[in-house]
Amino acid sequence: MGTPDSKRINVTSKRPTILLQTFGCQMNKLDSALVTSALKDAGFDLTGSVADADVVLINTCSVRDHAEQRVMSHLGNLKHIKETRPDLVVGVIGCMAQRLGSELFKQSAVDIVCGPAQIAEIPRLITEAMQGKKKAVAVTEKIRQLSGESEALESFESVYDADDKTIPGQAYVRVMHGCDKFCSYCIVPYVRGPEVSRPPGAIIEQIKRLAGEGVKLVTLLGQAVNAYKYTEGEKTYCLADLLTMAGDINGIEWIRFVTNYPSQKFFDEVLRAMADSPKVCRYLHIPAQSGSDKILAAMNRHYTAEEYLAMLDEARATVPDIEIAGDFIVGFPGETDDDFAATVRLVEKARYKNCFVFKYSPRPGTTADKKLEDNVPAEVKKKRNIELLAVQEKISDELGRRFLDKEVKVLVEGLSKKPHLDKSGNKNALQLVGRTAADWIVVFNGPESLAGQFATVKITKTSPLTLFGALVD
Ligand code: 5AD
Ligand code: SF4
Repeated sequence: MGTPDSKRINVTSKRPTILLQTFGCQMNKLDSALVTSALKDAGFDLTGSVADADVVLINTCSVRDHAEQRVMSHLGNLKHIKETRPDLVVGVIGCMAQRLGSELFKQSAVDIVCGPAQIAEIPRLITEAMQGKKKAVAVTEKIRQLSGESEALESFESVYDADDKTIPGQAYVRVMHGCDKFCSYCIVPYVRGPEVSRPPGAIIEQIKRLAGEGVKLVTLLGQAVNAYKYTEGEKTYCLADLLTMAGDINGIEWIRFVTNYPSQKFFDEVLRAMADSPKVCRYLHIPAQSGSDKILAAMNRHYTAEEYLAMLDEARATVPDIEIAGDFIVGFPGETDDDFAATVRLVEKARYKNCFVFKYSPRPGTTADKKLEDNVPAEVKKKRNIELLAVQEKISDELGRRFLDKEVKVLVEGLSKKPHLDKSGNKNALQLVGRTAADWIVVFNGPESLAGQFATVKITKTSPLTLFGALVD
């Protein structure tokens, strides 16, 4: 039993504060949002600055070396801060935590290391660290042989909703964990473990809850989301079933799904679901990675450039107004000028709405790193990166021009990054940013209260990445 004094201390003592910083992909952002929700429940407050924080948690990415280097230099800065504030607790979570484990303690600032399969343990690890216990690591020993982690993650994921109000009206929902594709360059299967699809009932319940909280757009997430497969009794559910079921939920207006591995399995079903449901956004992110069959084989991608382009044709035949986006890696080991020329040709034929281009970065433990020499010089990678983006920019520009003088429906995200007062028309109008169902970014003037709402915008100017327009009443 506590004394009256100790009770008074409890009442007046401040809740501990946490700064959670997130690097990397949407999967990481979703993990951070779930962790935020769990931490608030466990009695912590969130802060935006290191100066106010009792705990700094860094959610990390291992996909490219550059992402890891940024975290390492950040940990170096935190070491200096800890010299004057030794009680500050520093935790590393996410893919680097799983990849490096206790090796991260070589960075003296680090107190906690926690992998993506252990996020449910974070509140406990932090509480113990704050009580002065020794450094703690929670990662999966053999990540490709999960035992029990999936159940723990599922109960964590179904209890906590993504506490992420940064974009009102939108939420991510994970439909599966991990990846079994083993593209030779990719670290993900080694840090996120094997593919495990979540039960459809839990996913749909979660989407219903989010709809009840005002969410209008859900994005279903998986590393290869079209590999989603869950058998319950006689029935096997695929991604198309989830899209159809989510489309039946009142309040949900738009459904997206990322990212897709180019595979015929369930492809027709997904395209059908898109064609048949007005709620499934006509947007397909389907990375090709290269246009050279030799490089695709070395990447362990199970398709040729021709097969890939045939899939895009099929997508456009089933859903004529579909917008397609992709990813590419340039400078993969052995990529010659001819291989790169094949990639350029593929981009010209694919007519993506946009694509992301990355310079190959060898990842320790992957097949490409073990077996292939990183033999494309850095300046060649850079040159190819710039060239491919320029090819794409021209296509994006042409595609964007189709919208000129047309009205588009957007879901408003909020103030654009550089909000400024409209100098031309309404003196009080702020610059807002929204996206169309097919993911075109649209900038226009309007009241901030539109954030999280749908709006109609007439396009008056276009650029390769962004459309500009005026709000239609
Ligand atoms: N080097 C460069 N880019 C990579 N990607 C994945 N692994 C690597 C790597 N080792 C890219 C792929 C993927 C995107 C998320 O990151 O294009 O689609
Ligand atoms: Fe990595 Fe390939 Fe899996 Fe994508 S599909 S996460 S690139 S292994």
